Amino acid sequence: MITTVTLNVSIDKAYKIKGCVESGKVIRVLECNNTAGGKGLNVSRVASLCGEEVLATGFVGGHCGALAEELLEKDNIKNKFTHVKSETRSCINILDENNISTEFLEKGESISDEEINAFLDDFDKIIEDSNVITISGSAPKGVPTNIYTTLINMIKAKNKKVILDASGDLLKEGIKALPTMIKPNSEEMENLLNVSINNEEEVIKNAIKLHESGIELVVVSLGSDGALLVCKEGVYHGKPPKIEVVNTVGCGDSMVAAFAVAMERGYSNIDSLKYAISISAANAMTFSTGSFNSEDVDNIFENTQINKIY
Ligand SMILES: Nc1ncnc2c1ncn2[C@@H]1O[C@H](COP(=O)(O)OP(=O)(O)OP(=O)(O)O)[C@@H](O)[C@H]1O
Ligand SMILES: [Mg+2]
Repeated sequence: MITTVTLNVSIDKAYKIKGCVESGKVIRVLECNNTAGGKGLNVSRVASLCGEEVLATGFVGGHCGALAEELLEKDNIKNKFTHVKSETRSCINILDENNISTEFLEKGESISDEEINAFLDDFDKIIEDSNVITISGSAPKGVPTNIYTTLINMIKAKNKKVILDASGDLLKEGIKALPTMIKPNSEEMENLLNVSINNEEEVIKNAIKLHESGIELVVVSLGSDGALLVCKEGVYHGKPPKIEVVNTVGCGDSMVAAFAVAMERGYSNIDSLKYAISISAANAMTFSTGSFNSEDVDNIFENTQINKIY
């Protein structure tokens, strides 16, 4: 089983509109799609679609929290959340007629120390039945920046694998506990290492630095350019074919989900990269966040190039 951690759950509303977003105008929504979101829940949906059993955990509260649990159950995703007093947030993604997306992300209401301690107690038991744990996204107010360090140490003490996909201080602190894998995009890597990255050579140099610090798999996602993997076998670049992009929101989460699935199934690192590129690129071909069509995955897989760089 795969456990996904989402501390900052949200109800994600995907709006389709005619025309473009213009301030000061009344804009009518053509289509609205509600999903249980927060990056970790996108990971849950994709891993479940891949055919793996998933358990989602984190904090939920209030009416939106209850709706998130209901939406997950509809998708057959098991969940064990710590219930908190504050209301779960909502986030809005507006997709205009040119498929350009504009996102409004609420921060997430405050969580108390007692609620955090209750979660940590639950977490120790929850991970017992999983081989792979993913930790994704932001944390609500009140949660210390070293929370992921604590979670990763708990996971590693049980000899389980952990993928960390976060940004800012949560990532900076989190990597101190040496997760099995991280998946920054180049901007997240720039902030993490306080460097500027302008070309593939610089991506490679910095990814190697992170791998040498003790992180087994360093995957840098590069949007339509695919992803770079640094692992014990070497440095690899995986490139998907040109696809028809509909909505790229959740591509990073789809990539994390696919790597978790690949770890659960014991794929080699190189096969994992090819699989993850196919799933994440296929996600870009659908309107809903964290979904894909198997036919797209198969087509992309056939046409994805994996090149060994070193
Ligand atoms: N336009 C695209 N064409 C093909 N594949 C894509 C495209 N955009 C994203 N992908 C696939 O999805 C992966 C992750 O995308 P990206 O690098 O945008 O992640 P991210 O910045 O972490 O995204 P997120 O907003 O979900 O966190 C890429 O490595 C690639 O395999
Ligand atoms: Mg990302």
